[in-house]
Amino acid sequence: MARRQVGSTRRLVDSGSFPFSGSLHSKDQSSSLLPVILVLLGAVLLICLAYGSGIFGSKLESINKVEGDFSCTLEVQRAIPILKRTYGDSMHKVLHVGPDTCSVVSQLLKEEETEAWGVEPYDIEDADGSCKGLVRKGIVRVADIKFSLPYRAKSFSLVIVSDALDYLSPKYLNKTLPDLARVSADGVVIFTGYPGKQKAKVGEQSKFGRPAKMRSTSWWIRFFMQMSLEENESATKKFEQASSKGSDAPGCQVFHLKSYH
Ligand SMILES: *[C@@H]1O[C@H](CO)[C@@H](O)[C@H](O)[C@H]1NC(C)=O
Ligand SMILES: *[C@@H]1O[C@H](CO)[C@@H](O)[C@H](O)[C@H]1NC(C)=O
Repeated sequence: MARRQVGSTRRLVDSGSFPFSGSLHSKDQSSSLLPVILVLLGAVLLICLAYGSGIFGSKLESINKVEGDFSCTLEVQRAIPILKRTYGDSMHKVLHVGPDTCSVVSQLLKEEETEAWGVEPYDIEDADGSCKGLVRKGIVRVADIKFSLPYRAKSFSLVIVSDALDYLSPKYLNKTLPDLARVSADGVVIFTGYPGKQKAKVGEQSKFGRPAKMRSTSWWIRFFMQMSLEENESATKKFEQASSKGSDAPGCQVFHLKSYH
């Protein structure tokens, strides 16, 4: 959310100089608009400075990061057709865990023969009406994933998690990851950022309390081994084959794990 805000305010500042200089020459109502425009420009600059210096130390840097940044939850949405090709029937009962889960769940629900649920780890005060509807129906739950998920073992065929584990310390990951495996029957798919590539979004960092920590592929693989979670190699292979038919390079690490038996 914050990404869009910052981006659009910047555009306002860029293009702002044109109507502003034009209005100096026309004499009628635009002269009364001048103070208003000045105040607005000032406010926009203040907001930019506050975001820039407060969190990343420099305005320029924050804009660069904001532009280069995207979420793995968006990547999940894009990957749904690929996941369908990879998992086939195992996509019939899906749980998505992660921020903005309403968007993923809504999209999954459009697929034929797919039931979908979501766990939103963070508060959804600014969610739209359709998201609040999903919460009212119990399809999406707001739950702290540091604690046991409110579902029975093997409640879902597939569990997909994105942008959520990056915010957990190993101590909590030790509980959360086995719990995700517990509620799944045919696998857990993890979408997570690459270290150094993605930084926490301006708004999310404060919202989530602690900054995201992106771990390397080898870190994750060691961690899965400690948890006795095995990679589903055939799913990994199928997913990679299906993805390479698409054009865009993967922006997130994707792990396919087997559920516990
Ligand atoms: C997590 O669990 C593993 C294996 O059970 C253990 O070796 C490790 O010390 C734990 N880490 C934390 C931070 O609790
Ligand atoms: C591995 O993934 C495939 C989908 O590619 C799935 O059909 C299969 O059940 C999975 N195996 C295990 C043991 O989870």
